[in-house]
Amino acid sequence: MAHYDDKQFTLVMPVEKHALQTRLLHGGLAIAILTQLLTSLAMEGPDEVQSGDILFQIHRYSGLTAAVLALALWLVILTRRRGTDLGALLPWFSGARLSALWIDLRLHMAALVKLRLPTHDPDAALPAAVHGLGLLLISAMALSGTVYFLQVMFGFHSAEPDGMLAMTVHVTLANLVWAYLIGHAGLGVLHHLLRSASLTEMWSLRR
Ligand code: HEM
Ligand code: HEM
Repeated sequence: MAHYDDKQFTLVMPVEKHALQTRLLHGGLAIAILTQLLTSLAMEGPDEVQSGDILFQIHRYSGLTAAVLALALWLVILTRRRGTDLGALLPWFSGARLSALWIDLRLHMAALVKLRLPTHDPDAALPAAVHGLGLLLISAMALSGTVYFLQVMFGFHSAEPDGMLAMTVHVTLANLVWAYLIGHAGLGVLHHLLRSASLTEMWSLRR
């Protein structure tokens, strides 16, 4: 909530951790991925003779939308001034980042052993690294789906997904997407219910 700072006579507005572009792209991506996962449960995929049912068409086009949104989110992450550092999302190439990650991992393990939810810290190394892995995972799904789409569109392959490298990658990674979504959204909701972090910070449309 906004308040007046008596000493400086200025209106102090709270600053959201995540910029509006990050929040809009994150929300769009989450909705697209949920659509992907739900359609994948019941869709009749394509084969040599038919191009898939209506659920597959929804899967296909929301998948291409997810690919554009994931690319846009990477571009925002690379260029934004406010939000998590790229180095925190991808700590794998820095010794200092890796040792911070190791320390944070041990803190999380110690809390879990005591069956406690680790304290929410917006700058913690482990959650940021997991978010980075999640975004890489979604990017690999979107890329493999798009490669399949282009191969079929340009006539390099029939619509039958079996035996295609891109689709082998796609189907192998699919269960990890469920795991990521359930773990990530579940922890977000848990922190919200326990009032240790609010979901509205990531899901608000405030500038
Ligand atoms: C981030 C984007 C995407 C996600 C999360 C996603 C997720 C999934 C999941 C969970 C499955 C089911 C795998 C299984 O059977 O175990 C699947 C299958 C499939 N997806 Fe995607 N997908 C995405 C994008 C795309 C795109 C862009 C296309 C391009 C047309 C596509 C085409 C397919 C095909 C052909 C199958 C196999 C259908 C069958 O088994 O017959 N996906 N996807
Ligand atoms: C599979 C779909 C999703 C993907 C790929 C995804 C990915 C991400 C990424 C990459 C971040 C870090 C953003 C940054 O720091 O710049 C993030 C943060 C966050 N996500 Fe998601 N997300 C997904 C779905 C959801 C859902 C459904 C919820 C809500 C229930 C959610 C809640 C949050 C929250 C609260 C944060 C902020 C965490 C913090 O800053 O401490 N996400 N997500």
